[in-house]
Amino acid sequence: MMQPASMGELIYLDHAATTPVDPAVLEGMLPYFSERYGNASSIYGLGREAREALDQARLRCAEVLGCQPSEIVFTSGATESDNLALRGVAWAARIAGSGRDGAPHIVTTAIEHHAVLHTAQSLERQGFAATYLAPDERGIVGAPAIEAALRPETCLISLMHANNESGAIQPVRKVAEIACERGILVHTDAVQAAGMLPLGVDELGVDLLSLSAHKFYGPKGVGLLYVRKGTAIDFQQQAGSQEQGRRGGTENVAGIVGLGLALERAEERRVAYIAHCRSLRDRLMRGVVAAIPDARVNGPLDPALRLPNNLNVAIPGVDGETVLFNLDLAGIAASAGSACTTGNTEPGHVLLAMGLTAELCKASLRFTVGRSNTEGQIDRAVKEIVRAVERVRAVGSNVLRTV
Ligand SMILES: Cc1ncc(COP(=O)(O)O)c(C=O)c1O
Repeated sequence: MMQPASMGELIYLDHAATTPVDPAVLEGMLPYFSERYGNASSIYGLGREAREALDQARLRCAEVLGCQPSEIVFTSGATESDNLALRGVAWAARIAGSGRDGAPHIVTTAIEHHAVLHTAQSLERQGFAATYLAPDERGIVGAPAIEAALRPETCLISLMHANNESGAIQPVRKVAEIACERGILVHTDAVQAAGMLPLGVDELGVDLLSLSAHKFYGPKGVGLLYVRKGTAIDFQQQAGSQEQGRRGGTENVAGIVGLGLALERAEERRVAYIAHCRSLRDRLMRGVVAAIPDARVNGPLDPALRLPNNLNVAIPGVDGETVLFNLDLAGIAASAGSACTTGNTEPGHVLLAMGLTAELCKASLRFTVGRSNTEGQIDRAVKEIVRAVERVRAVGSNVLRTV
């Protein structure tokens, strides 16, 4: 795992975007692409084998979440899970007639992933109501602000466990206590938290929880939604009786096997992973801040309030994307505080909501460390970041033309 950094080697510092599949997870998945290719709905042996693999994956996930296996719905990833949580609860509330004196209402935050934000906006277009709360300057949305936004028609609070840009950990447990007193359901998008924060649904107090396997060394295109027993939810994907009729469509058996194995391994390795990530992230942060004194860390400075693998830093006077292109040429993969849409660079919504100017958002870089990173890689990354920043500052955003 720990190989010395050398020129030509990719230094991958974008684990919040995706992670490589753990070799042991891949090995567990492979037979379900080949000799064990059965459809889990078939009654003969090959099908039963696939069904057993699904059952076992469900057990593994339930063990980590501390829930009943029947409370897990496998999906195509967190985008689908988030959509299902919001749409499912909102439509169930409408069907049940709650919010009769007003549209069923969702409280969420301005820093959620687009899978939540765009779903809430889509529900607004369908006549539901939604409130999007701004975070403080650290990127945290306080429980009192959420409590103040609740209405008699509020059917759901959707608050992420930890933010993908700033790493800020949100007060999910506190919010769930408030919601529980009022009989309001709570959903958390725990995509970035898996492998780093506890996921026990009872400890968190949540009714719905989303995960995506590729964020914790599992395969892409598979995830889950935990749905607490008794939750009023209108399942959205209709077809056969798969997932007990809650999510139609032939199950992605190999992917689900990978999800189960990856989640189990992420939980087993959590304490060691936190220590590994925190030490490398802190090394990176110290190196960058020492060499670029005006660099400013975005997000919470208190390590207890921040994911251990995340460093988000604004470097005044540079265009983050241009620095990233330079880092790419040097073999370093990271991410910017801006989002590219059809050729235009827009400041990212999370940092903007935290109160950064559009200029500082575009000058921000996100580094997320992971399993394969070493101290040698971090030291080389610091040097390359400093070099890229100096070049961009000297030449401006045309620097690539001079490379
Ligand atoms: C916080 C969060 N939620 C949801 C998603 C969506 O996950 P997927 O694209 O795997 O469906 C992501 C992916 O980046 C994420 O970071």
